[in-house]
Amino acid sequence: MSITAIKGFNDILPTESERWQYIEQAARRVFELNGFSEIRVPIMEKTELFCRSIGDATDIVEKEMYTFTDKGDNSITLRPEGTASVMRAFIEHKLYAQDPVAKLYYLGPMFRYERPQKGRYRQFHQIGAEITGVNAPLADAQVLNMLVQFFREIGLDEPSLQINSLGCPECRPAYRAALVAFLEERLDRLCEDCKRRFTTNPLRTLDCKVPGCVEATAGAPSMLDHLCGDCSDHFASVKRYLDSTATPYNINPRMVRGLDYYTRTTFELVTSLLGSQSAVAAGGRYDGLISQLGGPAIPGIGFAIGFERVALLLGDKDFSRQPDLFIATMGAGERDFAFRLMHELLQSGVRVEMDYEGKSLKSQMRRADKLGARYSVVIGENEVTSGKASFKRMEDGEQIEVPLKCADIVNMTA
Ligand code: HAM
Repeated sequence: MSITAIKGFNDILPTESERWQYIEQAARRVFELNGFSEIRVPIMEKTELFCRSIGDATDIVEKEMYTFTDKGDNSITLRPEGTASVMRAFIEHKLYAQDPVAKLYYLGPMFRYERPQKGRYRQFHQIGAEITGVNAPLADAQVLNMLVQFFREIGLDEPSLQINSLGCPECRPAYRAALVAFLEERLDRLCEDCKRRFTTNPLRTLDCKVPGCVEATAGAPSMLDHLCGDCSDHFASVKRYLDSTATPYNINPRMVRGLDYYTRTTFELVTSLLGSQSAVAAGGRYDGLISQLGGPAIPGIGFAIGFERVALLLGDKDFSRQPDLFIATMGAGERDFAFRLMHELLQSGVRVEMDYEGKSLKSQMRRADKLGARYSVVIGENEVTSGKASFKRMEDGEQIEVPLKCADIVNMTA
């Protein structure tokens, strides 16, 4: 029996990989334009890093991590997200000593043991960006604008921005107490998971999709009504800055994120096109995370985009690359000639394909068609002697006489 991939782990095949490159290149363009530099961190970390940052009472840490003991008896975890690793590196290499304001982006695979379905996998990919060292709400608005710019850059304007504020360690405890008092009355209507969350992480009950829980928590107190003065001012400023750049958003007071490190601004870009996997990108501010991980008291904010979900949203748009020219040859002598010409053209940036094996002319032309070449040319003895050939423009069959010289062919295909 042949061996298949692990459930929830996907191969990215051609031409899907071309779609991925399109997304990746757009992200790099937009992030670098905004002054971000790439950071590459390992895909495995000490398990403790994720427990301490994401939080012991989250679904990710409780149920979804790929954790194992290595041969040295260390507990290791395949990263379920990137922020913790990037902040670990920020602290470990004292990047803050040169400049507390770091603008970092990263991309790569993440691992969560979730139930696979469309848009949800066990190995999935994120493109993330983080800014450290800025408390000001302008940073929140700029991060959001950059995220929206990325979606515009790839031609998607459907995902809509939802924002919320989760307050800070000053104001959240009072909100939590108000929510617990509200939930206590309705405990018997909550699902088993939420009954457990009621003691470990009551805010997460607001995010439960089980219809009974949605009904029972309707009318729950809102964090936005419990923000302290500073958090309330911060949120008002973020909204004002978004308004000033005409960035559309909705306020979703029930948005509680699945990771515990958030403070103040949180956000998601959501779509109605992917069923229950509606978040295409998400993030927020995490002003306590760096110090919680043993670093200095430096704030941070960032987001991660779900690569697979973006690729799904791009639909059946064709990203495959076609050759500029297919060179067909009549015999072995011409094949040698064509091989040298192809080499020169490739050095000049023309995408060229030819037959390597001496197939029949008919079969070579079928291949030119199959590859979707923009031009094709047949080189026989006459063409080699005269130094000219008739190039066929495949889309309309037009024949164009051009010297068999690299520069002329470059001009024709430009
Ligand atoms: P997150 O909400 O857990 O946040 O994930 C961000 C995005 O990754 C989601 O919106 C979704 O598009 C994608 N994603 C998550 N899980 C899966 C999965 N199983 N399959 C496919 N896609 C998935 C974070 O990870 C934070 N680190 C974001 C952040 C950065 N916050 C601040 N900085």
